[in-house]
Amino acid sequence: MSLNKKIFSLDEFINQALYNPKNGYYMKNNPFGAKGDFITSPNISILFAEMLSIWTVLFWQNLKCPKKINLIDLGSGNGQMIYDMINSFKNFPEFYNSSNFIILEKSPYLKKIQKEKLKKFKVRWIKNLNEIKEGNNIFVANEFFDALPIKQFFKINNKWNERFVKIEKKNKCFINKNSDIKKVEKKLGFKISKNQKIIEYSPLAIEYLKNISKKISGKKGALLIIDYGYLEDSMKDTLMAIKKHTISNLFKEFKNSDITYKLNFKLLKKITNILKLKCQGITTQRNFLTNLGIHQRAEIISKNLPFSKKADIYYRLKRLVDKNQMGDLFKVMLITSKKINFKLGF
Ligand SMILES: C[S@@+](CC[C@H](N)C(=O)[O-])C[C@H]1O[C@@H](n2cnc3c(N)ncnc32)[C@H](O)[C@@H]1O
Repeated sequence: MSLNKKIFSLDEFINQALYNPKNGYYMKNNPFGAKGDFITSPNISILFAEMLSIWTVLFWQNLKCPKKINLIDLGSGNGQMIYDMINSFKNFPEFYNSSNFIILEKSPYLKKIQKEKLKKFKVRWIKNLNEIKEGNNIFVANEFFDALPIKQFFKINNKWNERFVKIEKKNKCFINKNSDIKKVEKKLGFKISKNQKIIEYSPLAIEYLKNISKKISGKKGALLIIDYGYLEDSMKDTLMAIKKHTISNLFKEFKNSDITYKLNFKLLKKITNILKLKCQGITTQRNFLTNLGIHQRAEIISKNLPFSKKADIYYRLKRLVDKNQMGDLFKVMLITSKKINFKLGF
């Protein structure tokens, strides 16, 4: 972080903490798994990626099986999800032979891990979404949007204030500065402050949504978002840092913890409408995976296995779908062009 500068907007600060090219959290770390800081669904159970594969193949069938389709994994982490998905696609040779597998990944450190893991498959890494042409594009974003830097605004005494981070010597603290919310809204292109006391959003996420909309609106494509978040109209302050599977201090663990937030799916839906796309549905991870048959699949793969292996499969399944674990907190949202009607899973 530049020594001359003392005050950072929250999104600049998070960007430095997570993605500083030299020592940002995601640029030097493999944070996934029991020994890391957090675990994502594809790293809990193969069933997760299998359900996404079935969903993807059925979506493609609904498009009348185009001979060319791009599957783009946004932010692949350790590459586990796309690895298991490609393996599953081998059971659907027509789909497999029609697909290009593409990854958008910012971290060179994680990209290296992905390249090693996926070396037996044909996968293309892109630096920028502009490398994707408009067409049959299926974007999958599992815990991608929650990793993008956010801004926060608070209404105090009827006036909007933006949150900044002040750095003095080794001390860091939040400060608020008056903000002209109309200017912010003009830049965004819509009124985000209406009926709110807190505003929390990722400018980069909106950029990505605008960019993806261009790739899926004209023709036939989709963006499937799976992430933790909530459905209420009112936005909340959900900023948090995670280290070793627990909430940590954002400032003390600067560059050594994940900084994340919960998505407001109502806001995403509003943006979907502004971009003239269609939200096919928003549901919980529990409903989505259950509707796709995850319980039946668990039964099939655990048949004839010894008790301990069977128990492990069901323990992992429970983590994905249980109301008190990831089942309700995680939501799934499908955004497509208006021409499409596809509700599978919702
Ligand atoms: C929380 S991890 C999710 C990993 C993976 N999808 C999973 O489910 O295990 C977020 C991933 O997004 C990547 N990422 C964050 N910002 C990005 C950006 N602007 N462009 C591309 N990748 C990004 C991170 O490096 C990391 O691989």
